[in-house]
Amino acid sequence: AAIVEHTFVVHEMNMTHLCNSTKVYVVNGQLPGPQLDVVDGDTVVVHLVNELPHGVTIHWHGVRQLRSCWADGAGYVTECPVAPGGNRTYRFDVSGQVGTLWWHAHVTCLRASVHGAIVVRPKDGRYPFPTPARDVPIVIGEWWTLDLVELDRRNLDGNFEDDPLSATLNGKLGDLSNCSGVPEESFVLDVEPGKTYLLRFINTALFSEYFFKVAGHTFTVVGADANYLTPFRTDMVTISPGETMDVLMVADAPPGLYHMTAVANQPPPPDLQIRALTSRGLVRYAGVRADNGGAPVLAPLMPGQHDTMPSYYFRGNFTGLAFPSRHRVPAHVDERLFVTLGLGSICRGGKKDCKLRRSNETITVATMNNVSFHHQTAASLLERHYDGTGEGLYTEDFPDRPPRPYNYTNMDLIPVGPLEEVLEPTTKAIRVRRFKYNSSVEIVFQSTALLQSDPNPMHLHGHDFFVLAQGLGNFDPKKDVKKFNYHNPQIRNTVHVPRVGWTAIRFIADNPGMWYLHCHFEFHIVMGMATAFIVEDGPTPETSLPPPPADFKRCGTNGFSKP
Ligand code: C2O
Repeated sequence: AAIVEHTFVVHEMNMTHLCNSTKVYVVNGQLPGPQLDVVDGDTVVVHLVNELPHGVTIHWHGVRQLRSCWADGAGYVTECPVAPGGNRTYRFDVSGQVGTLWWHAHVTCLRASVHGAIVVRPKDGRYPFPTPARDVPIVIGEWWTLDLVELDRRNLDGNFEDDPLSATLNGKLGDLSNCSGVPEESFVLDVEPGKTYLLRFINTALFSEYFFKVAGHTFTVVGADANYLTPFRTDMVTISPGETMDVLMVADAPPGLYHMTAVANQPPPPDLQIRALTSRGLVRYAGVRADNGGAPVLAPLMPGQHDTMPSYYFRGNFTGLAFPSRHRVPAHVDERLFVTLGLGSICRGGKKDCKLRRSNETITVATMNNVSFHHQTAASLLERHYDGTGEGLYTEDFPDRPPRPYNYTNMDLIPVGPLEEVLEPTTKAIRVRRFKYNSSVEIVFQSTALLQSDPNPMHLHGHDFFVLAQGLGNFDPKKDVKKFNYHNPQIRNTVHVPRVGWTAIRFIADNPGMWYLHCHFEFHIVMGMATAFIVEDGPTPETSLPPPPADFKRCGTNGFSKP
């Protein structure tokens, strides 16, 4: 196994799109940032140098971090951010995972531009599918002209009016025309006739699931979140923030130029007024000239911007590829959670009493089982857990189920008019959940109509989980467990919980530490749709988390306790 070593300098720079020069936060002058190329079993060493006026951490999204929770990079959960002018070294192994993962900043909204791909190749260089001629990362993102730290501040204050200017493909806006009528640069995928390409999709967007198509071509989906899937054919890829997907595309169309299109899938009304976020790119066959070698053929026909059903059916296709026996679904369940994803209302400015029915006195927050995660900046939860000083900062009583059952997916619950007039009062708190080493945990996530019918891409740090089933409407424990796939479920770290529907997962809590669990829609995180799981140390040193590295950031000392 090799050591893959990089230096990441996070800094500000100006980039111009659509005639506007915008200050952006990037790594090493690149957007998307540098790609990490590793082989299964390698060790990654990244020296992070922070030249921003803000604190920053980098999270290695989907990397298991087995017994290396200190390197997980979740701001205020596993470490305090690296201060302006400061640095830290992340060191961790990538083992037992093959495919596409990614890295991103994990404080405020910085991940919109501080992100990049992690490509993990198999040790023997062999895939369970035809070897591609080339692999090509396709990073779906968004171009924001608003300062990302300011965006976070506005979200925290309950202001969610802001939109990105455009969707992006590998940092390119697509063929939108600028002020002088010159089209923006598009992402171009150069192909040779008959060859197979492995497209590595990553959705880094803050807010939206995306539909992706290439005119005249179909795809074979072969992996997601660095786990192989039973291959299936589709003419469209659907991907939510936080997810990755590995997809084969054969250049089997008559040589020419073909549009590729990514369109954000927005939930149905009341969000009808949102304009379609789109980015277009091009597939160009060798020998075909882009200018007058032939005008691009048709753009692909995309599903309706508000139609969430194509996403639901697409996700119904996923099963895991016959996996090694260590990947058996645990037959028993030690801890069973039913978690509603909803909204609530709290008093502004930390006041105890306020007129909960009045918008100028309340803030709308997101909840899991009616608890809204409190984003504190005093300490990292992990550090407090191992210091034995967690008390006062968090409690270990995250509820097993919502405080009261109701009809979660009743569309009449969708708030019409001012939210604060319909939302339940809730509290901001850090209520985490403790699991014994090696316990088997089942969670059913239930999206609720209350959440203006958003779907929720739920992401768990430090673990991969089996996705047993998904469904629409309210989860019915009697009927729906019959749909659970114990035979060949997909294995993921991020799962899209359909709008007004549910998803059931199961995993073994075998990685000691403090692990963030949250929706990967940025404004849902900011609003509090998050919690954390403590996994206890096992009985031996080999099953326990080693002490933190010497340069680990503690808040207020060598770390930074300001967002
Ligand atoms: Cu991709 Cu907690 O993050």
